[in-house]
Amino acid sequence: MKGIVLYKSKYGNTKQYAQWIADDLKFEVRDLSQFKKSEIGNYEQIIFGTGVYMGKMNQLKKVLKLFKDKPITIFACAGNAGVEKEIEDIKSNNFNPEELAFHDFFYLPGGVDFSKVKGIMKLMINIFRKVLQNKKDKTYDEEQILKGFTEPSNYVEKEHIKEIVEFMHKSAK
Ligand SMILES: Cc1cc2nc3c(=O)[nH]c(=O)nc-3n(C[C@H](O)[C@H](O)[C@H](O)COP(=O)(O)O)c2cc1C
Repeated sequence: MKGIVLYKSKYGNTKQYAQWIADDLKFEVRDLSQFKKSEIGNYEQIIFGTGVYMGKMNQLKKVLKLFKDKPITIFACAGNAGVEKEIEDIKSNNFNPEELAFHDFFYLPGGVDFSKVKGIMKLMINIFRKVLQNKKDKTYDEEQILKGFTEPSNYVEKEHIKEIVEFMHKSAK
């Protein structure tokens, strides 16, 4: 079985999961930018993992176009520890029902460390932080986001890859 794990990772969490999954399955692992369309036929199984920023799965549009004729396994890695409602939001914000039926989706909990954010993104999140700080009657979720600016979270654990690894074994021809 020849397989590859492709990833897009800004802060390292998705990359870590991609590496663990590839090691377990004995797949290749590569940054998405290093993968060419002409290589698709070389692999029986393909996984793509990416981070979620401002609700959007990074580079997903490109990947859905690239693999419009070949079903792959896609995982998102974001800041929540595995809250079902938030995972459903990530799915519905990033895929249409046909895309979700064609590809397989998994969620792996990442974490947030805003101190690592640089450049334009830093400017944007600082504006977002100010808006939240000035808001009266904050919701629980908003309080948690504000907390995240001063207390980094990290839920990255190798045991989280179990489900996706088992799924790949089962779906191998
Ligand atoms: C600027 C920024 C925006 C983010 N936006 C979201 C978001 O909308 N939803 C979410 O669940 N996590 C969000 N996160 C958390 C990231 O998805 C999380 O850190 C993820 O593990 C990043 O993956 P990476 O380390 O591979 O880049 C955000 C993080 C940053 C730094």
